[in-house]
Amino acid sequence: MKIAVLPGDGIGTEIVDEAVKVLKVLDLKLELEFADVGGMAYDKHGHPLPEATLKLAKAADAILFGAVGDWKYDKLERQFRPEQAILGLRKNLGLFANFRPAICYEQLTHASSLKPELVAGLDILIIRELTGDIYFGQPRGRRTSPDGTFAGAEEAFDTMRYTRPEIERIAHVAFQAARKRGKKVTSVDKANVLETFQFWKDVVTEVGQQYPDVKLDHMYVDNAAMQLVKSPKSFDVVVTGNMFGDILSDEAAMLTGSIGMLPSGSMNASNQGLYEPSHGSAPDIAGKGVANPLATILSAAMMLRFSLNQPQAADRIESAVKDVLSQGLRTADIWSEGTRKVGTREMGEAVVAAITKKTTKS
Ligand code: IPM
Ligand code: MN
Repeated sequence: MKIAVLPGDGIGTEIVDEAVKVLKVLDLKLELEFADVGGMAYDKHGHPLPEATLKLAKAADAILFGAVGDWKYDKLERQFRPEQAILGLRKNLGLFANFRPAICYEQLTHASSLKPELVAGLDILIIRELTGDIYFGQPRGRRTSPDGTFAGAEEAFDTMRYTRPEIERIAHVAFQAARKRGKKVTSVDKANVLETFQFWKDVVTEVGQQYPDVKLDHMYVDNAAMQLVKSPKSFDVVVTGNMFGDILSDEAAMLTGSIGMLPSGSMNASNQGLYEPSHGSAPDIAGKGVANPLATILSAAMMLRFSLNQPQAADRIESAVKDVLSQGLRTADIWSEGTRKVGTREMGEAVVAAITKKTTKS
């Protein structure tokens, strides 16, 4: 099993280091190959997604990705910005189905900014379409307004667009995922205003007829944003487009206490996947050894389960994470009175220790 490891920028290297330690202790036949991505790849090779990195990613069974981005690249022409690396990987590998689970661990109920009773036991799954929508629609650009409508006679535009096959395939993914969970799908749209999302709603409804055992409801995105903080546990699977999914998944992440806990996986039609923490490169804390590596470690578990067919190894990682939380270890983002604050490395090594302890016992 070949894994392309792309640590990237900011805290990317620190957190991926810990996930790699965890993967190595599992004693699986994994071949890990590292490559440059993001701003650091631009610095070294003049492009955030170098040809060699893309090639390695394409040939791998799965990709473990850290994070990309830093303010210092904000002034670059868009095609050279670090974010283009992740967008390029998604598009080139056809990674259209993004799974972002938001699970509130029992031990972290009090780390949420919401009342504990609202989030205790929370387990929802956001499925975000990842290769369409306004992120990739053409045309896009800037121009001088042809009719001179604006004072400055200038405008910028992006195109929101979805095709039927794009909506159908993500809808199938959502219904199938719901079948294995709470059997409920909430499709989030803005059908009251946008043609693209009226179409989205129509197509999801059609696909839903093939899944009579799954309950489907529809919600406007503004209402969904509100319901997520009002009664988050009323959701099971949420399926939505690229941009709404981007926004709602950050919101859902905070319900769980910290975005530092949330893994994410993006799959294509052949189950090849890219796995990454839901958070970004956090340049403000990079290099300080304080970042939470658990989202990346849990992403590695998702990778084992979804792309490498190693569900037992995934279980071992996930239960080791619960173990270290029960031991009271906390990185700064999830720390609270009465728990022990640890750094990135100490947290990673505690997970490794929890895994090996279990291995010797059994
Ligand atoms: C995410 C990120 C990306 C996105 C950026 C870095 C391009 O915010 O994965 O959610 O907007 O999809
Ligand atoms: Mn995002």
